[in-house]
This record gives sequence, structure tokens and C-alpha cells, in this order.
Amino acid sequence: MLHGGSLPHLTPEETLAPILSALESVLGSARPVALHQPHFAGREWDYVKDCLDTGWVSSVGAYVTRLETALQDYTGVAHALAVVNGTAALHVCCLLAGVIAGDEVLLPTLTFVATANAVSYCGATPHLVDVSPVTLGVDAIRLAAYLEDIAELRGDTCYNRTTGHPLRALIVMHTFGHPAELDALAELCRRYRIVLIEDAAEALGSFYRDQHVGQWGLLSAVSFNGNKIVTTGGGGAVLTNDAALAQRARHLTTTAKQPHPWAFVHDQVAYNYRLPNLNAALGCAQLEQLPDFVSRKRALAQRYQHAFAAVAAGHIVNEPQDTRSNYWLNVLQLHPAYGHLRDALLETCQARGILVRPAWELMHRLPMYRDCPRMDMSTAEHLERHLVCLPSSVDTGSVDTGSEHA
Ligand SMILES: Cc1ncc(COP(=O)(O)O)c(C=O)c1O
Repeated sequence: MLHGGSLPHLTPEETLAPILSALESVLGSARPVALHQPHFAGREWDYVKDCLDTGWVSSVGAYVTRLETALQDYTGVAHALAVVNGTAALHVCCLLAGVIAGDEVLLPTLTFVATANAVSYCGATPHLVDVSPVTLGVDAIRLAAYLEDIAELRGDTCYNRTTGHPLRALIVMHTFGHPAELDALAELCRRYRIVLIEDAAEALGSFYRDQHVGQWGLLSAVSFNGNKIVTTGGGGAVLTNDAALAQRARHLTTTAKQPHPWAFVHDQVAYNYRLPNLNAALGCAQLEQLPDFVSRKRALAQRYQHAFAAVAAGHIVNEPQDTRSNYWLNVLQLHPAYGHLRDALLETCQARGILVRPAWELMHRLPMYRDCPRMDMSTAEHLERHLVCLPSSVDTGSVDTGSEHA
């Protein structure tokens, strides 16, 4: 019995020893081992050199369009707009979802801070919700019960009965690449007339019921940050199946400049958010390798699962049912009896050159979001104390490192 049964009394060192040997069996002996480093083994050099040779390095150029087309083909989402980073993509998603000052936007407390910041950029308030112990994303059943309590439909707008503010949108986040319960959450949003946005920053290459994530939200955001499954250095994209929204996203991310050969006429306050061609070139080469990256990361997940199968102090978080995760980050969840050893584990691993990390500080504990409206956060609080993110690069534990990074 690995989880849930009574555990023998062991010293901290004795408890950590099987975790360390499981890690070492997957990672091999080379040190340090990064949490997540990029892997450049395709045509990156050719495409970037092409930009330099032709002088097309900035926000206009063929690689931007090519990257967008490749994203559309891979995800099956009709429109992709490449932008400077995932945070900017989320900001645009919120703006186009109609989020305005005074609104509240539901989002999970267990997320990277960009999810909440994008809402704040619109002058709106994050309304923080708890997560599921299975998906680590927004818990559909608990959110349904919560909305039953606090939400009220007036015409086509949903209001928070307590604050009187519109509950404009829900941002779901696919934590560590594991898809959230999209069908149930989309249904809930339909019922309450709340716009669904997917923060798929970590989930390029992840599928829910055989469809790529990003199809359930009216708008979705992905990230190509250096630590993501594919990188453009810095970059991201807005995905949507709505042609009119895609057109508005393009306009909004290019300073709302009206098309003209030389005149500078801008018809609204907008943003310089378009991805430069140089970054897009890197992204094109990376996207060509995405199917291979996903299968290598899924194979790494299997190696972790296998190595930890006999470790009583914790287990590796598995992809939820009906999903196919990209396993962007593999995560060890400590047994409840061993949560107090999380920091000792982090310190021991760091000292040995294994660069593990805790989960993010929960949004409701950050100073700027401490006073936001929220529900009971017991699951996220439990998870945060017990999760340890493990090295998960495409080449982690393999003999061929292939990466240009030291
Ligand atoms: C869940 C989540 N949302 C948003 C972002 C923001 O993406 P970026 O760093 O490209 O701005 C990230 C990652 O960095 C993320 O993990």
C-alpha cells in the first residue's frame, strides 16, 4: 500500500533517502540538472540566421505568419496571433473578453502570478477560487456550489451578490500541462453567462478528450517563455476560433494602426505586443519538434512514475482521466504525513545540484491579492505544502543532451 495507509516512523533522512535515490535513478549522475531548459536540436540556427541575413528581425516578417499557421495546424484552433509573451496574450484575452474596471474575474489561486496580473491590467479584480486535487486546475464541482451561493444572473450578466460587481470571466489554467475539467467548466460558464478564457501557457501539446486545449475558451493564451515546452526566447500567442475577435486581437497588438503604406493613424489606445520575426523564427524551428518534445516528456513522466512506484513518502502527479498531458513539469506530491519535509527535500536537492522548486506562492497570499474576494482554499493550501516540481527538460536524464545551454 503506497498511499493512505499507516506509515512506519522514520527519521527525515530515512524518509528522504528513497526519494533521492528514485530521483537519481531517473536523472543519472550529471550535475547540475535544471528544472527546465530549452532544447535546440532542429533548424533554429538556420531560421534565425535567415532573419539576420535578410534584415527581417522586427515585428513584421514571414516567420510570424508561419508560426501562427503552424500553431493553428497543430492545435486545430482557427486563429493564432503571436505576441511578445504569455502575459501579454492573457491581457489581450481579458480585454477582448470585455473585462473592464470594476469587474471580477474568477481564477485559480494556484497559478503563476501572470494570470492574476492580466486581470489587474484591465482594472478588474481577481476573484480567487480553489483547485481540484486531481487536475490541480479549477475544481468544477466546488466552483458550481460556490457560484450557487454568490452568483446572481441579471439579464445576460452575472453578478457577485456580495460585492455587486459583474463576474465577467473565468480563467482556467492547465497546471503543469494537465488539462482542467474543460467540459464541466465550459458548461458552468454557459449557465452563468461568464466568458471562459484558458490560460494554456503551460499546455501547448496537451489534449482534453482528443482535442487540443484552447478550444473551450472564447480566447486562450499560450507562452513560449524559455522554460516552456517550446520557446521563442520570450513570446506567446492568443488563440481563438472567432474570426472577428482574431481581427481585433491583431489590431490591438499592433498599436491599432490603420493599414496604410506610410501614414501613422491609430484609432484607439492599443499595445505594441506583436512578436518580432527573430523570435518567431526560433519558434518555427521549435514547433517542428513539438510532437517529439511531447513524446520525450511523456516518456520522462513514465520513468518518474516507475521510479517512484515503490516510494511511500509521495507519488508523481498523473494526467487526469480523458486527457493527454504534455507533462510540461513533472511534480512529486508528498504524502500528507510528510509535508513538513518539503523544504528539507528542496534544500537537499538544491545542494546536490538537482534544481527542484516548490509550487507558486498562492495568489491569495501575495500582498496585492490578499484582499481579493475568494472561496475556501483548503485544497490549494494542502497542495502547495506538498508539491515539489522535478527536473523536466526534454532531454532530462537522457545521454544525448542536445541543448546549447550550459
Ligand atoms: C500559468 C502561466 N500563465 C502565464 C504565464 C506567462 O507567460 P510569459 O512568461 O510568457 O509571460 C506563465 C509562464 O510564464 C504561466 O506559467
